Amino acid sequence: GVALGKMLGETGLVTLDPGFVNTGACRSDITYIDGDAGILRYRGYPIEELAKNSTFVETSYLLMYGELPNAEQLGNFTEQIQRHTMLHEDLKKFFDGFPKDAHPMPVLSSAVSALSTFYQSSLDPFDEPNVDLSSVRLLAKVPTIAAYAYKNSIGQPFLYPDNNLGLVENFLRLTFGLPAEQYEVDPDIAKALDMLLILHADHEQNCSTSTVRMVGSAQANLFASISAGINALFGPLHGGANAAVLSMLEGIRDNEGNADEFVRKVKNKEPGVRLMGFGHRVYKNYDPRAAIVRDTARGIIDKLGGGDEMLDIAMRLEEFALEDDYFVERKLYPNVDFYTGLIYQAMGFPTEMFTVLFAIGRLPGWIAHWREMIDDPDTRIGRPRQVYTGPTQREYVSLDQR
Ligand code: ACO
Repeated sequence: GVALGKMLGETGLVTLDPGFVNTGACRSDITYIDGDAGILRYRGYPIEELAKNSTFVETSYLLMYGELPNAEQLGNFTEQIQRHTMLHEDLKKFFDGFPKDAHPMPVLSSAVSALSTFYQSSLDPFDEPNVDLSSVRLLAKVPTIAAYAYKNSIGQPFLYPDNNLGLVENFLRLTFGLPAEQYEVDPDIAKALDMLLILHADHEQNCSTSTVRMVGSAQANLFASISAGINALFGPLHGGANAAVLSMLEGIRDNEGNADEFVRKVKNKEPGVRLMGFGHRVYKNYDPRAAIVRDTARGIIDKLGGGDEMLDIAMRLEEFALEDDYFVERKLYPNVDFYTGLIYQAMGFPTEMFTVLFAIGRLPGWIAHWREMIDDPDTRIGRPRQVYTGPTQREYVSLDQR
């Protein structure tokens, strides 16, 4: 265990494990995954039960504090979040500084990083009341920032948050509402989005969460650490996959629904061509989240109209892959993002917002991990070793000799 790890590290023996496939970096009480059995639990509660019975705000509390809240705790937590949704007026000026066609993910990470300049009391990572406040501020303001990044990109004015609305309702209104119109939140859309956020809320030591913990291990503040996590999530192999799935499905649709050519390229391992939304480092079985999303997709897409053709293509692709040797041998199954993009599109979100929705969902997990890391007496600054493969000592050659 820990003692052996320390001993080996300190005597200079180093294990080489690219991608940390088999290296535990911490102990954690937050999320349990059994990748072979396709099991996911937050704080012991199966994801299926939380998706069915909980709300995103309640699940956020559970992840951060370890227990389901009682009615009073949930009421206080909800009210706190509702009260912190507004952005400082000066922060709003940031949006003017970005190009109009800026992708909302880097806008989001920049604005989150900037939060630490507005709330300087957040800089001490060991000041618990301030960490609580920073956590609430993040949960409340990230949806507002995300909606403003979108509004800015389409040249529409920002709406002020409505503090009578719940987190998801507020976000939908800020994203799709207009000042001159009354925006009616569709309760089915709000419920479905809330559920999708629950499914994304944590996934133990994934790339962005490990990033948050790594940056935080230097005792960087919560805003700085989360901003780093957002940047990690922007990568196409991580949070960017949900948008990539949609471009892939569109490509197949535009090729008269014929997936053969695409699948051939995937199987020939042409550079950069993968069946997006398939495969997972940990799941070697059906991702339990993907099963929930797939079961929800048809209902929502039918209700909202459009997208049926793409959903059919996705389902056919899945059926094919589950029977095909290439995918079977490698245990490649749909992951959470195979079907989410189709739902987001039916809800009216542009593709650039898909990864932002993932970030809003993953936020409570990042916060919970950062807090666990800061409170853990075993935490040391993250500092992997390497196996050096460069030249041995060389003599400096002056410029005129080269
Ligand atoms: N399509 C085709 N082949 C694949 C795919 C895929 N989606 N995923 C993995 N493979 C193949 C690899 O080519 C490799 O084959 P080989 O053994 O013959 O060389 C084998 O399966 C193992 O793949 P690795 O890349 O080693 O697996 P790793 O654990 O490093 O990567 C990852 C996992 C990044 C998720 C990968 O499966 C992938 O790129 N998937 C597509 C992108 C995606 O959907 N990402 C979302 C991840 S989930 C999330 O962030 C919510």
